[in-house]
Formats: sequence, structure tokens, C-alpha cells
Amino acid sequence: MGYDFDEIIDRRGTSCIKYDFAKERGLPEDVLPMWVADMDFRAPPEVVDALTRVAVHGIFGYSESKDEYFAPLRDWFARRLGWTPEREWLKKTPGVVYAINAALRAFTRRGDAVIVQSPVYYPFFSSVRANGRLLVDSPLAYGEGGAYTVDFVDFERKVKEFRPKMFLLCSPHNPVGRVWTDAELDTLAGICLKHGTLVFSDEIHCDFAWGGRSHRVLASLSRETAGSAILATAPSKTFNLAGLMISNVFIPDRTLRREFASEVERTGLSQLSVMGLAAGAAAYRYGEPWLEALKAYLEATIAFVRGFVAERLPGVRLVEPEGTYLLWLDFRALGLPHEEVCRKIVHEARLWLDDGLIFGEAGRHFQRINMAAPLATVKEALERLERVFFG
Ligand SMILES: Cc1ncc(COP(=O)(O)O)c(C=O)c1O
Repeated sequence: MGYDFDEIIDRRGTSCIKYDFAKERGLPEDVLPMWVADMDFRAPPEVVDALTRVAVHGIFGYSESKDEYFAPLRDWFARRLGWTPEREWLKKTPGVVYAINAALRAFTRRGDAVIVQSPVYYPFFSSVRANGRLLVDSPLAYGEGGAYTVDFVDFERKVKEFRPKMFLLCSPHNPVGRVWTDAELDTLAGICLKHGTLVFSDEIHCDFAWGGRSHRVLASLSRETAGSAILATAPSKTFNLAGLMISNVFIPDRTLRREFASEVERTGLSQLSVMGLAAGAAAYRYGEPWLEALKAYLEATIAFVRGFVAERLPGVRLVEPEGTYLLWLDFRALGLPHEEVCRKIVHEARLWLDDGLIFGEAGRHFQRINMAAPLATVKEALERLERVFFG
């Protein structure tokens, strides 16, 4: 079946935060938004059909899902990621950020240290702080060649010094686009195991790995690793369902699972939305051909961006994405103050990107651009950058 990812779908006036809230967030109303991590593509047709069936039925009572959700989810992981979760391991939550916050309260106490690797998805910082935990950062190393790696010496030193109760791992990593290797994950997990640090592995971008790479589920490394890991994934990034509020938290260890479930209960959450359950089940059951077509489209987009940046944005560097549909652009070589780059992007190019600084100080001189849009939109954004910085 063909899917038309080139179709420009007008999202304005649909209450989406990407297009409809520029003014409220202090930006000019006419900016072209390439920021928040959802896509400008329609979800798989089977998902739209499933939601339509629920809507037409017209009764939206309290709902749960038996095998309709778990069976295709398990098969998805087994088939595509080589890891077979068990039914009891799964706790569904209305989002990964919700799960991070619940896990912080379940497994750490006020004042406990929690370690992260900046630049990183900014709710990692705000969740740790909002819960009164101590944020410890072990920044990723950025090599001269433009590649990010883990600074294991710094990481272990900080783990020894601060004794973090939890490590928030972003895998694949947003915003730098790394798909961590088995060896990297093994070393990180080994350090955490040695020092009694639980790993919350945010694997929401697991279905987007490029160039023949594949994502490694942290819990599949070893039994010990699985025993002290909390894994979070969701159909939201993979199938563009973020507004339906459904995510998967897998906790193989029974005690940890109980503690997490108690914390979720304390938040007053019991069931999820009937729409989220229906959409997620249909997505994992029928969405694979759509995802494969989408991935091919996005790989072609990456190739286009790579060429454009190299030829027409001299001094701007595309950090080579190994995964995710979020691209990380390095503006350091332009020699402009970061604030000036941001001003030009917003007020001259009329683009709404994610300012690198929101991902931590390590993001100074960087911008994140979401390329999950029709190629014509991505092209327009890049041409605006060209005009403003090199016109
Ligand atoms: C690494 C990461 N985790 C979590 C989320 C959001 O998850 P949710 O919408 O399920 O809270 C995002 C969205 O961009 C993300 O990039």
C-alpha cells in the first residue's frame, strides 16, 4: 500500500501545540514550527479506522484492554527488537514523562541524586527538580569529528561520588541521535549495577534507528540488567499518537514493579483512555508496513538534509543521526553568540526550532530540528536558514 508522506496537511486550528500556540509561547504567530517531537503525517490508516469505530459506537465508558493491546505489543518487540516481554511486566501509563515522575517518586527519596547525560530531553531535568531530587549531570563527550560518546570515566566518578539512586538513560538519545551500542549499554549498566543505581531507560525512540542499525533493548543485555531496569516505550513516537496519552512501562523485577504500581495508584490513575487503547492496539497489530514506508521516507529526508547542510549551510554541522527523527545542528563554527543565532532563527527566518540550551548548557550553539514533516516543509526550513545566515 502506498502512503503519501509528501501531503501537506494543515494542522492549524486543531489545538496542536506545534502550530497553534506560538503566540502563547512568546513567538511570532507566523513561524514555521519544527520543534516538538510529533509528526506532520497522518497516523496509519488502520489506526484511524480503529478510532473511527470507537467514535461511531459513541459510548466512551471506562475501558481496559486484555490481549488486544498486549499481544501485538509483545509480538512487535519480539519480532522487531528481539526481546519478548512478559505480560506482568507491563504497566500502561498516560505518557513516558508521567512514568519518569512516578518512577522518581517510587524509587528515590527527596534529596537523592539522579544522574543524567546532557544534552538531553529537557523533562529529565524538570522531573528530577520538580520532585526535589538532586540532579547530577555527566555530560556526553562531543568529539572534534562531531560524534557524541559517553565519558565513562566521568560517569563512574559521579556515580561513586553522588551515589545516584537512579540513572535516566535516553536510548536512542534525544537530541544527539545516538543509538547506543551493546558495549556502551553494557558498560553503563555494569557501572550502575556495581553501585546500586537503578536504570530508567527511556526507549521511546526505539523504532527509529538509521543506516541498518538496530536498537538494543536495555533489559535484553542480561538477567541482572533486566532486574534493575525500568523500560519505557510508547506507540506515540512510532505512530504519531502523542495526543492519545498511552505508553508502556516494562519492569521485569517483581518488587520494583509493585513499588511502581503503588506509586501510580497514589496518583489516582486506574484506566487509560479508550481512544489510546484502541489506537495503540491497532498500531502494533497493523502498523508495520506504514512504519517501514515512513522510515524509508525519513532516511531519504536525512540524506537530503545532510547534502543541503554540507553544500549550502557552510559552517553549520549536522550531527550524524543514528536514530530518532530529531536532528541536532551545530552552529559553533559560525562564531555568533548563541542568543544571536536564536534571534535570527525566530525573527528573521521565522522558524520555531528547539533552542539547544533547553537541553542543558552542553546545547549552547546547537539547535534541534524535527524533520518528521513532508520533505517540502523540511526544504523550506533549510532554505530559510540559508537565506538568513548566508543570503
Ligand atoms: C526521550 C523522550 N522521552 C519522552 C518523550 C515524551 O513522552 P510522553 O509524551 O509519552 O510523555 C519524548 C518526546 O519527545 C522524548 O523525546
